[in-house]
Amino acid sequence: MSSKAKFQAIRGTRDLLPPETALWNRVEQTAHEVFRTFGFGEIRPPIFEPTELFARAVGGETDIVSKEMYTFVDEMQGLPDPANFDISPEQYVDAVQDAIKSGEIHSNNQTFQAVSRLTGQLELYRERVNIGAKEEAELKFRVVASQIKFGESISLRPEATASVCRAYIEHNMQQLPQPVKLYYMGPMFRRERPQKGRYRQFYQIGAEVLEAVRPDAGRDAAKELAKDATVDAEVIEMLMTFFDRLQLEGAELSINSIGHAAENCRRGYVEKLRGELNKVKDKLGADSQRRIETNPLRVLDSKLEHEQGIIAKLSKIADHLCDDCKTHYAELKRQLDLRGVKYIENWRLVRGLDYYMRTTFEITARGLGSQNAVCGGGRYDGLVELLGGPPTKGIGFAIGEDRLILSLQEAGKGSVAEGRDVYIAWLGANAYATAIRAAKSLRSAGFSVELPPTEQKFGKALERASKLGARFALILGDNEISSGEWALKALGTGEQIKIAEANLLAYLREHQ
Ligand code: HAM
Repeated sequence: MSSKAKFQAIRGTRDLLPPETALWNRVEQTAHEVFRTFGFGEIRPPIFEPTELFARAVGGETDIVSKEMYTFVDEMQGLPDPANFDISPEQYVDAVQDAIKSGEIHSNNQTFQAVSRLTGQLELYRERVNIGAKEEAELKFRVVASQIKFGESISLRPEATASVCRAYIEHNMQQLPQPVKLYYMGPMFRRERPQKGRYRQFYQIGAEVLEAVRPDAGRDAAKELAKDATVDAEVIEMLMTFFDRLQLEGAELSINSIGHAAENCRRGYVEKLRGELNKVKDKLGADSQRRIETNPLRVLDSKLEHEQGIIAKLSKIADHLCDDCKTHYAELKRQLDLRGVKYIENWRLVRGLDYYMRTTFEITARGLGSQNAVCGGGRYDGLVELLGGPPTKGIGFAIGEDRLILSLQEAGKGSVAEGRDVYIAWLGANAYATAIRAAKSLRSAGFSVELPPTEQKFGKALERASKLGARFALILGDNEISSGEWALKALGTGEQIKIAEANLLAYLREHQ
């Protein structure tokens, strides 16, 4: 017996397999269809990006960035080896600088630090040469230079809003007709503790609306706020339409406004909250105690039983919003009502990513246990600017596809027609040529066909056809070929008919 260890999917990752993948495809197809009807186009950003992009967008203090990202240094390839005596220390430093100029080495903070270490070593080398210790100086330079790595810190994406904003800037999308409406689907990566509905590689279906701020936007502030609230409501309406289309039951939408970063709005509230929390600090758990300093709003997110009574007594953000944010929030609710979208207001909904302002929302679904948030989103005006782009507004969401699928399955909505439409039971070389032709024409008409590669006795073939869940067996033997009358057996009822080749497609379509 082989002693080789068996490989297994890494903890927190998993294989998605048939027949379940058919449900994944149905969900994704529905997203393509529904989002298209709202004027969204698909974007496929890369799976990895500079670590700094996520740190800046999502926030360095967030759990996602501080604990959960898969990060590594992508070392530059193709630089000469500093240990190679064929090139001098000067030539090596020149090669590094050329690679930075040509963009082969990404020029960022890390590179800057590495280069200054390297040029420091070159200085030392020269000083030592001047005092006549060339050999030793060169050796020392080569040892240290070999340890200085040039490369970029990159991370597997933990979410895609940052990537979409990066792409908006990179492709000058502010020059396109505004707003730009994009959606995406694909894997995201977070090193969380795996449990039901929580994976380290999980899938999101998300959408973002980005809109360059017009220079005259300040002229009629009330109109602008109402327009933003309308955009928010339409994004949420699209989301609920998508869930409806999938017949997801018990989806509950919670909304909130977390205001904007100003003294007379969120900043003022956060200070007040910090004061109140400090007074009850001793009664809070370690996480919340830490958050009093880093991000008091996140304390509101706590699920700890013993903190609930304390949190219920804290001041609410709704009472501390500035007039603009109040107007925006009121209009959002009115717009949702106009669209018949039902919601619950939850003043504790603050979200775990730093870029949000004003609207935040989450959707919970049934059958998911404690990880019941199936979607989260909100408004993030200013994020594009924070990433070096022009002043831009943004609103979007991401659905946890794994959780959505789980919820559909728990509700019995997970079954997708499996099996084959037709199993071709053939016997004899003549019949095989006809079977190949029949398979080709059935498949091009959209039927799923199983054409066994070797001939089988009819009894055995029918047995296998049933096991595969085929609806029909097309029986082709010498008699059928010579008479032109093919035999078609419905495996559900056992009924068998004779049928001419010319009538087969029409018959199968009628008996879908
Ligand atoms: P998020 O709340 O971090 O938001 O994630 C959105 C959804 O992804 C969650 O509600 C959940 O369903 C799913 N999810 C998150 N982590 C996991 C995990 N470890 N395993 C399974 N599912 C998970 C964002 O990512 C924002 N980018 C959403 C957004 C887009 N906001 C504006 N635009």
